[in-house]
Amino acid sequence: MVREKKKVNPLWGGRFNSGVNDLAQSFSSSVEIDKRLFKADIQGSIAYAEILKEANLISSSELSKIKKGLKKILEEIIQNKFNWDPALEDVHMNIESRLTTISGTAAKKIHTGRSRNDQVATDLRLFLMEKTDDISNLLISLQESILLKAEIHADSIMPGLTHLQIAQPVTFGHHLMAWYEMLARDYSRLQDAKERMSVMPLGSAALSGTRFNIDRKLLAKKLGFKEISKNSMDAVSDRDFVLELASSLSIIGIHLSRVCEEIIIWSSSQYNYVNLSDEVCTGSSIMPQKKNPDMTELIRGGTSKTIANLMGLLSLMKNLPLTYNRDLQEDKAFIFNSVDFTEDSLALLALVIEGMQPNTEKMRQDCFIGQITATDLADYLVEKNMPFRKAHEVVGKIVAHAETKKMQIFELEISELRKFTKLIEDDVVNYLNPEKTILARKQTGGTAPTQVKREIRVAKNALSKRRS
Ligand code: ARG
Repeated sequence: MVREKKKVNPLWGGRFNSGVNDLAQSFSSSVEIDKRLFKADIQGSIAYAEILKEANLISSSELSKIKKGLKKILEEIIQNKFNWDPALEDVHMNIESRLTTISGTAAKKIHTGRSRNDQVATDLRLFLMEKTDDISNLLISLQESILLKAEIHADSIMPGLTHLQIAQPVTFGHHLMAWYEMLARDYSRLQDAKERMSVMPLGSAALSGTRFNIDRKLLAKKLGFKEISKNSMDAVSDRDFVLELASSLSIIGIHLSRVCEEIIIWSSSQYNYVNLSDEVCTGSSIMPQKKNPDMTELIRGGTSKTIANLMGLLSLMKNLPLTYNRDLQEDKAFIFNSVDFTEDSLALLALVIEGMQPNTEKMRQDCFIGQITATDLADYLVEKNMPFRKAHEVVGKIVAHAETKKMQIFELEISELRKFTKLIEDDVVNYLNPEKTILARKQTGGTAPTQVKREIRVAKNALSKRRS
């Protein structure tokens, strides 16, 4: 069988007699995925051309032809008029090839002293820096929705749980502010990751740096990078910034999933703590009465993708020798998937929380079961000078006694309580009523409404600073 001779790639085909086999070509083509980098790629090329001009490697007229061409390409892509060719492998060669058609010989100089190895590392950093900002803003919006609800419910009581069992009373606002704190850490992790992302690899060329006198510092400034890479071999092979972002997004995912899990439990008929808006629920095709919290379930379930993507990236990187290896092309599908999922989930969860109507009466009622103030009774005895371990034991006995009578400890007569210890007096009522006991936990971090309101004020201030 005579095989058809394939056309060689004009951008690197000089030494080849034949082009790549069809399967090899489609197997290695990444443009369907990496075309999302077009804006960063064009931005990078414009700045790079300006630096080539500074170094007298291209003339002013060549620079203006290149810039005009790149801007035209940007428009074409945005207007969906660009013809992406899978045979040209990736976003970089698609754009360079089109630039050659538009700007002629000038375009053939754009890759002077540059390799796709430093180009793709630069593009990906630029793209992810922007995405990190977008995700940070979505985090802030979600925090704002949480704050609004927490403010309204700083005084509403509900059972706080450990082991999913009733433990001690808390305020609903306090519970919501716990979510806020989780997201605050996520925000700072992203800022931290962005710090190390903001290092420019361009000028590292293929692996060993460039002989041309390009001003890397000026180039970095033009592109908005804080620093330039210090070792070209590391710069073209490093994907720690992708791993760090993927890891931060997995942690965000876990947080969102945990929040969703609570909302799912709360919205069940048995709990009936919250009502979700119709906007974020779906029905059943057989059971007419059903209103299911699907969005929260899909966020909980979909979080697995962020974890899987992180695992994928870690295993992609673990055996790679320096410097660039084509394996690195696989990084994008993983991280793009995590970024997309995180953006959607953050926006959706904000919608869920905004429309979530708490049933504060049911929450309050549940604070009168489960011997919820037993710890407060022990604290009472401590205040009367009983050592805590002893108080724990005495209250344990009181609880056991109440349970045999199928009663709550606050329902027992004072005279009955005094049979266990004479230290108990009339003032004990303040330690048995959950509505009273929450007021006492007013240390920073505690559930007392005054404390929660203070926490909300601090949070509001922090958020408005981030917004400005
Ligand atoms: N598409 C490639 C990637 O994403 C660009 C770099 C290719 N470099 C090379 N030497 N083949 O990694």
